[in-house]
Amino acid sequence: MAATIITTIRELTIAAQEMRAAGKTIGLVPTMGALHEGHLSLIRRAKAENDVVFVSIFVNPVQFNNQEDLIKYPRTLNNDVQLIGDYADYIFAPAVEEVFPTPPNEQFNFGSVANVMEGAARPGHFNGVGVIVGRLFHWVNPHKSYFGEKDYQQIAVIRELVRICQFTTEIIPCPIVREPNGLAMSSRNRRLSPDEFETAAQIHQILLKSAQLEANVPTIKAFVEEEITKEPAFTLDYFEITDDTTLQTIHSFSEAKGVMGFITVYIGAVRLIDNIRYR
Ligand code: PAF
Repeated sequence: MAATIITTIRELTIAAQEMRAAGKTIGLVPTMGALHEGHLSLIRRAKAENDVVFVSIFVNPVQFNNQEDLIKYPRTLNNDVQLIGDYADYIFAPAVEEVFPTPPNEQFNFGSVANVMEGAARPGHFNGVGVIVGRLFHWVNPHKSYFGEKDYQQIAVIRELVRICQFTTEIIPCPIVREPNGLAMSSRNRRLSPDEFETAAQIHQILLKSAQLEANVPTIKAFVEEEITKEPAFTLDYFEITDDTTLQTIHSFSEAKGVMGFITVYIGAVRLIDNIRYR
């Protein structure tokens, strides 16, 4: 049976409460729509691991620090509903005024995981993510909620949100899904021209090469920065090698047990992010 589309918070909370009361486990997949195979992998996993699946589709204005990015963010609700098919039981697709009848005033202190990289580059972004994900958790109270590892730092921030607000939801990180050319799937990829789409694949190729270098942290960092800079279509925003849990920059592999590299590159006006695990 196709998913039931709901647009009000009242319907959402009643549906979720009824499912809980009936003893069903609830999985929530928060999205901003413009769904691709990456989102569908989260939704399918939620379906496999829970009795009932809620997918939210809401382009959350308060997490955009760039108005042009907000305006240009693709909105494809009808197509999204088709793609979800019967993998979800409920699709929550509210209007902005339903979620924010007045401007939100929640202020979170997510600490050091939120101050670096995306947090530093996009002031207010993670607070805005916390506002919407916190409200969704409050309304749906899911047993599990699913997030893609392309936004690895977002997952660290949401874990902080769960800790601060004492939600009982388990956060399930899911692997990055890539295009056949290696580019990490993203709703923003739709804004790339065919040439840019091919060029953008180099981001992942360069990260893969960097992981095969068997070099120290400064050498890997210099390699990635140089390779990205060689491609005229790219403007590097940042590349950081960090502890996989604290997300603080490290200068030697001995400083952390798990080590990740995080990159943000502009291609034209489109901002793409990706990451790689070094160990
Ligand atoms: O990752 C996203 O698409 C968004 O940040 C999220 C988690 C749906 C909150 O708006």
